[in-house]
Amino acid sequence: MAGASIVGAYNTQFGSFVQKNRETGEIRDTRTIYQLMDEAIRGAVEDSGFAPEEIDAVWVGAFAPGLFTGQDHLGPYALEAFPEAFRFKPAQRVEGACASSSMAVLNAIYGIESGRYRTALVVGVEKMNLLKSTGVTHALAGASFWPSEGGTGMTFPGLFAEYAKGYRSRYGLGDEEFRRMLASAGALMYRNGVLNPLAHFGKGGPSDRSQLFTADAIMELPEEKNPMVADPLRLHDCSLVSDGAAALVIARTDIARARKEAVVEFAGIGHTTERLAIADRENMHELIAAKLAVAQAFGEAGVAAKDLKAVEVHDCFTVNQLLCTEALGLSKDGEAGRDYVAGRFSPGDACPVNLSGGLKAKGHPVGATGASMHVLLYKQMLGKPIGAARAAGVPEVTATLNVGGSAVTNSVTVLRRSR
Ligand code: COA
Repeated sequence: MAGASIVGAYNTQFGSFVQKNRETGEIRDTRTIYQLMDEAIRGAVEDSGFAPEEIDAVWVGAFAPGLFTGQDHLGPYALEAFPEAFRFKPAQRVEGACASSSMAVLNAIYGIESGRYRTALVVGVEKMNLLKSTGVTHALAGASFWPSEGGTGMTFPGLFAEYAKGYRSRYGLGDEEFRRMLASAGALMYRNGVLNPLAHFGKGGPSDRSQLFTADAIMELPEEKNPMVADPLRLHDCSLVSDGAAALVIARTDIARARKEAVVEFAGIGHTTERLAIADRENMHELIAAKLAVAQAFGEAGVAAKDLKAVEVHDCFTVNQLLCTEALGLSKDGEAGRDYVAGRFSPGDACPVNLSGGLKAKGHPVGATGASMHVLLYKQMLGKPIGAARAAGVPEVTATLNVGGSAVTNSVTVLRRSR
């Protein structure tokens, strides 16, 4: 198969780009979904060194732009970054909840591997903060099975609380013990996040101001500063509600090699789908479908967990950081919590997890997250890290694990620098 490689990448600042008038409740947009997309697309194309005319097709990953901003049909908007060069090119939006832009990446790869396209542009975006919290919670709940979950008041913190309870009970963990595991995972994200200049909770942000860099610091917060959101998940176990975009230029690998000094190849991909309703699943202590996606991607790439030198995983809630770490085989089942407590997966580890700060600190504009994972790893692999770097040297083999919905849509990619 021809194979596909990343040749250009760009991530916008992640954050909350609105001004809220506390008296009137009015929310003013200070960086629109259109501006975010334009910036990411132009940045990625410029980074690639390819001319916009050389891009054959465009995929946009976005979860619920209609609900969040009023704007659906986002595929065509991507043309506006280069209206003359992009007009009349194929462009479409792909939706897979929080894995929307990983679905866009996979579709771009399929387009290239099929031989139809030589190059593709992927952009992931979400503009979440125009809605109040209740609106955001409602929009996100659309990624659950509406009749028995979202429609009956179930929220995403609630759904992942089911996994947290399942994990705690399966491994017989005490409340404090488990809380420390989750807080250790979160504290690592906050430490990495302050080093990432693009992070929502970056330098000078809330986690920095409160110095939430250890499990103790998080656990010692007064109740009102770290309230229970969905037992046992607290505020600091939840990812951020963010605005942002990220884009990638992907090319057929032989073309990439002819044009670029270093090429980061998609060495293996995995895509699995779990049943939508959690009531239809067993084993609420592990990500069964994600593990299958990992097996597919590792098999295709011919790698094992020990070969990975950095990963970006879907820490939408701290418990999912543990579950993803186990799904990738970086921790044994039931051991990830202890591994995080012991200080593993920091930038000094053989395989750091979420050097970017992850969804907890970099932020989680849901449709942008999958593309963003790839952008940040690509930069790591070229030795030009955005933020924290792997202490043991530039990683040659890395992986993303991006999860959409309540662990339903699973995408795994193994990236390998081939030159
Ligand atoms: N983690 C840490 N702090 C957070 C936070 C989070 N996830 N969300 C908000 N805060 C902080 C804010 O900075 C603010 O701090 P301040 O008072 O010091 O300024 C404070 O909490 C209140 O912010 P607010 O925006 O009013 O919070 P909220 O109650 O509306 O939202 C959550 C909190 C947890 C409900 C929201 O962050 C959330 O829904 N997160 C999960 C998103 C999600 O499910 N994504 C999809 C995953 S699959």
